[in-house]
Amino acid sequence: MQRRNFMKILGVSTASLSYASFFGASILNAKENKLLGFESIDINTKDIVVVPKDYEVKPLISWGDPLFSSAKEFDESKIINEDSINNATLTFGDNTDGMSVFELSEDSYIMCVNNEYINPEHMFNHNDKNMTLDDVRYEQNSLGVSIFEIKKDKNGDFNIVKDSKYNRRITAHTPMEVSTLRGFDRIKTKDDKNGERILGTINNCANGKTPWGTYLACEENFDDFFGSSNKKLELNESEKRYGVGVDSVYKWELDSRFDISKNRNEPNRFGYVVEIDPYNPNSTPIKRCALGRFKHENAEVLINKDSHVVVYMGDDEANEFIYKFVSKNKFDSKNNKNNRNLLESGTLYVAKFTNGKNELEGTGEWIELSYGKNGLTKENGFFSYEDILIDTRLAASFVGATPMDRPEWIVADNNSRFVYATLTNNTKRTEAGAANPRVKNQYGHIIRWWHKDNNHNSTKFKWDIFLLAGNPMQYPNDLRKGTSNITKDNMFNSPDGLAFDKFGRLWIETDGKYSNEGDFLGMGNNQLLCANPNTGEVRRFLSGPIGCEITGIAFSKDYKTMFIGIQHPGENLLPSHYPNGGDSTPRSTIVQIRHKNGNVIGS
Ligand code: FEO
Ligand code: CA
Ligand code: CA
Ligand code: CA
Repeated sequence: MQRRNFMKILGVSTASLSYASFFGASILNAKENKLLGFESIDINTKDIVVVPKDYEVKPLISWGDPLFSSAKEFDESKIINEDSINNATLTFGDNTDGMSVFELSEDSYIMCVNNEYINPEHMFNHNDKNMTLDDVRYEQNSLGVSIFEIKKDKNGDFNIVKDSKYNRRITAHTPMEVSTLRGFDRIKTKDDKNGERILGTINNCANGKTPWGTYLACEENFDDFFGSSNKKLELNESEKRYGVGVDSVYKWELDSRFDISKNRNEPNRFGYVVEIDPYNPNSTPIKRCALGRFKHENAEVLINKDSHVVVYMGDDEANEFIYKFVSKNKFDSKNNKNNRNLLESGTLYVAKFTNGKNELEGTGEWIELSYGKNGLTKENGFFSYEDILIDTRLAASFVGATPMDRPEWIVADNNSRFVYATLTNNTKRTEAGAANPRVKNQYGHIIRWWHKDNNHNSTKFKWDIFLLAGNPMQYPNDLRKGTSNITKDNMFNSPDGLAFDKFGRLWIETDGKYSNEGDFLGMGNNQLLCANPNTGEVRRFLSGPIGCEITGIAFSKDYKTMFIGIQHPGENLLPSHYPNGGDSTPRSTIVQIRHKNGNVIGS
């Protein structure tokens, strides 16, 4: 069976991989062809950030940099004590990921940044070999979200405004409100008997920005932080599906809150989208449970033409799903108090993809995940709406959602009807399926869908594949070569971050294999690419230092400064000393990029 499917892939006609026929070259006009105005860079395997000719790149902030003048600078001695544990709450967290900027003026912004996780191999002198409870406490203060003001100086560089009234760290201890699931039994713990106050947010991967001025931080691999001191603990179906087990990645079970043998419901309090008001540093973040519990990547928020809010979300694990939330109430530009609660109630849907007549296109359906509908009833093991919100994955499987090749970021193009999603890779795939055409998909692809009349509240859609990443030099004769817009000059693997700028360029960030060998020869370090969605052309804009992932993207209002996240340079003790060189510890860093003549980025 596997063999036959694979042969079927090899048999895909090359015509369907031709970009010109796919998009219809005749619809293109000269302006659309000029969207990309920079010279593509070569691959890079060095410990530096490379940008195109006439661009310059500078660090904005790195892990451990102070947000307050009372904080100490990053200390290479890495001594963990009460002072350093407290200091971590006053400095920029580790593993910069999704970010958004909120405008204060042309030249100053509140920047909200997810600090996804930690790299204990660099954080401690023992390189993760001897974790203590104090080390765990240091880590708990080193992830979450960092919020701070940035301001442009007379040279045009952005700098951190220390002690700004907006500056704030959100950690694994910050109290959060519980939306929708407040008071539900499976949310209650012995420290929160009423199920109304969750402490902290963890593994905040990508992000979202709402039209009502709030920031969304999305909790992804929360299971990595839970373990059990009782190694014989029997796991239930829900725990198994979410990867919550007796062995954690980070040894946080040293803190009994993260020990599931002592605190069984704590994992039910993570895996959500968290809404934060960046303008009020005293506000309490809210876990927006109505958006479902899974390993959230980002949350793409838009106002549909019927004024309902639509949020697209991916669940990043092999063979998990793509979701859509539609708010019960409508957005009202004159009533921001009402808007502030639009994510409290609504309907959650999951995507089912079906192949069409031609290769790499088809139709789809959004299946409602509501209690009592589509078989989500007591008889089938779903006891309430609240249970479906906690066990979203189980409900989605039950209704027949399409297993995907690890859904990462999703973005809607304001200049078209298309919604794009990265499917980063899935080497576990053994059968080609609708929207996921390759077995053992080591390169990843980008899919897009659209609804009739651009109505995002419709339950039917059409889809096609915008791009199959691949290696046309290693595999010129089958689908592993990628779509025809992938060439020896722009090869990459594992697309992850996505963003549209206001001019319609599609920016693509990678989190892939950086060996530059074998299947990945000719791809170099992780990179940022830019695509013209009208022609399919892709150019390489930036590549990062050794062992990093490129993630997180934001622009100044004039699109003349771009902010890009360089996450975990030197992970797994690879030889990086980015950004400071010498013998320094590699540190996750946000960089700022400008054109020497002040041109719009990418133009
Ligand atoms: Fe945190 Fe799926 O990336
Ligand atoms: Ca990601
Ligand atoms: Ca990724
Ligand atoms: Ca990552």
